[in-house]
Amino acid sequence: MNIGQDSMSKIIDGKKIAQELREDLKKEISKLKINYKKEPGLAVVQVGNVAASSVYVKAKTKSAIEVGIKVIDHHLDEKITQKELLNLVDSLNKQDNVSGILVQLPLPVHINEQVVLDSIDPNKDADGFHPLNVGKLSISATNDENLLIPCTPYGCLLMLNSLGVELKGKHAVVIGRSNIVGKPMAQLLLKESCTVTIAHSKTTDLPKICSEADILVAAVGRPEIVKGNWIKKNAIVIDVGINRVQREIDGEQKNKLVGDVDYSEAEKNASFITPVPGGVGPMTIACLLRNTTIAFKNKFI
Ligand code: GUN
Repeated sequence: MNIGQDSMSKIIDGKKIAQELREDLKKEISKLKINYKKEPGLAVVQVGNVAASSVYVKAKTKSAIEVGIKVIDHHLDEKITQKELLNLVDSLNKQDNVSGILVQLPLPVHINEQVVLDSIDPNKDADGFHPLNVGKLSISATNDENLLIPCTPYGCLLMLNSLGVELKGKHAVVIGRSNIVGKPMAQLLLKESCTVTIAHSKTTDLPKICSEADILVAAVGRPEIVKGNWIKKNAIVIDVGINRVQREIDGEQKNKLVGDVDYSEAEKNASFITPVPGGVGPMTIACLLRNTTIAFKNKFI
């Protein structure tokens, strides 16, 4: 029986897999504290008050504290200048108690995100977004345990690995070409010896490409754009989307979270599928804690 999966269920339980990862990290961090008299520290930088960012930052902070990571919180006014933000990152780069730095995206439009991400010490790059880490991910043939890998795609890979299904040779279709998810996801699947197709908003005949996927990773950010009849029989479906929509429930308009995949229909064709919420989301956070712990170990061990 594989982790995060009931014997009869095709639902990939990201909550459960993430919990196991957090429990392992908690044990590891407590040993590190005893042996090295130090603890990993995560600097969490949020600029402004984008509602979704506040939700993510709160969840990341809570989980970090629970596993024994010290959180150094910097919540900045949205009018902060790029120079001021770069100065803060520079000072965090130099602080010994800061093992990992997370700058929550998006940043306000007057700040160049790439310039800020480039300014983070690659050894403290908790998100794995620095060009050096992006390059290492693309070059290394196998998964080096010390690598700082973008959290969402790595979480997706851990979920795929939990199924005990051979990935080698499978046709994986990733919808979305973002630096945060689509591109690193494709690199990770390539390392698993999948045949990888990256589709995106300009792809001609997206339904056809999707229907050829043994593994489908949807990371487009559009509610339920992937329809059930796009899914090949017994395909594995990983839904990265978290979209807030208004739906009529019991005669009332209510907020609901839905993925990029029309779950109720896709579930009929898929062999395994992630739910939203409770799929990829918890894995992203657990992988951030993993990266912070790796960064700490890379420095001190
Ligand atoms: N915004 C949306 N996802 C992410 C993420 O994984 N990391 C950061 N830093 N910002 C995000």
